[in-house]
Amino acid sequence: MTQSPPSAPSAAVRFEHVSKTYRSGQVQALQDVSFDIRPGEFFGLLGPNGAGKTSLISILAGLSQPSAGRVTVLGHDVQRDYAAARRALGLVPQELVFDPFFNVRETLEIQSGYFGVKNNGAWIDELLENLGLADKAKANMRQLSGGMKRRVLVAQALVHRPPVIVLDEPTAGVDVELRQTLWAFIARLNKEGHTVLLTTHYLEEAEALCQRIAMLKGGRLVALKATSELLAGTAQTMLRFKTDAALPPALAAQARVTGRLVQIKAHHATEVEQLLAQLRQAQVGVEDLEIGRADLEDVFLDIMQAPAPAQGGL
Ligand SMILES: Nc1ncnc2c1ncn2[C@@H]1O[C@H](COP(=O)(O)OP(=O)(O)OP(=O)(O)O)[C@@H](O)[C@H]1O
Ligand SMILES: [Mg+2]
Repeated sequence: MTQSPPSAPSAAVRFEHVSKTYRSGQVQALQDVSFDIRPGEFFGLLGPNGAGKTSLISILAGLSQPSAGRVTVLGHDVQRDYAAARRALGLVPQELVFDPFFNVRETLEIQSGYFGVKNNGAWIDELLENLGLADKAKANMRQLSGGMKRRVLVAQALVHRPPVIVLDEPTAGVDVELRQTLWAFIARLNKEGHTVLLTTHYLEEAEALCQRIAMLKGGRLVALKATSELLAGTAQTMLRFKTDAALPPALAAQARVTGRLVQIKAHHATEVEQLLAQLRQAQVGVEDLEIGRADLEDVFLDIMQAPAPAQGGL
């Protein structure tokens, strides 16, 4: 048995100068990433495809080794003190991995056994119930749909009641109902004191759930703030409308266009008036016009499009 650290750790998860270069190529997946996740926090890790989120989580879960740096879970070094760090962590991996020979309940019982948890039946029942799997307990893993398999992965991650729960895109390919059930359950666990680390490309989920958010871009940490601060730091107003017409170049340069949907940032009310006047002058016909608050997606795109920050500076 490894000794527990002498005092209660101040961080649930601590990344210290973590870098990762994959041997197979010249890919520098992570570059000098340092930050803490506080005990009890609901923390979001965001970034575009290939930003390094799963690489960081794999190192956190002891599945891959950092090229440099150190990671601890509740004070336990994920490499030197692997067993204790791993026990403190429940990981829902991005990839659907499962053993096709077992049914759902057996899968969860085997996972309990792996962590040395005995008499876990009541908690397994609660997990099955809360994740909408009760009627699938006897179903063979390979008979389940993709969304159902993901539910089992979530249950598997929680089977040993880990203090730190790590969810790597848990809602990819998951229907609306399960998302709601899943978030209600995870929010309950978070209220009960579990720390949660979430990666997702659904930014409205991150905005609604996460107290703080870190953003990775090209393997570097480019933002780390309270969600409210991130939202407050952006232009407060967005003009949203649909159109079939081409925008005049001055507006096109500042607009975000998704099919027929156009979104343009405004910093204050007079700017909204100016934008509307410009549209009228250019005879751009608009439909479904809305003036709303900027959301996390706007902040995210701003940060991702900004030039890289100077070394070490956030
Ligand atoms: N096993 C591997 N071998 C070589 N390169 C890898 C490996 N795993 C990841 N990479 C590379 O490392 C970089 C970061 O990948 P990673 O999977 O961590 O990104 P991500 O942020 O999780 O992306 P996504 O949102 O698509 O899941 C990418 O350039 C990827 O191609
Ligand atoms: Mg990933």
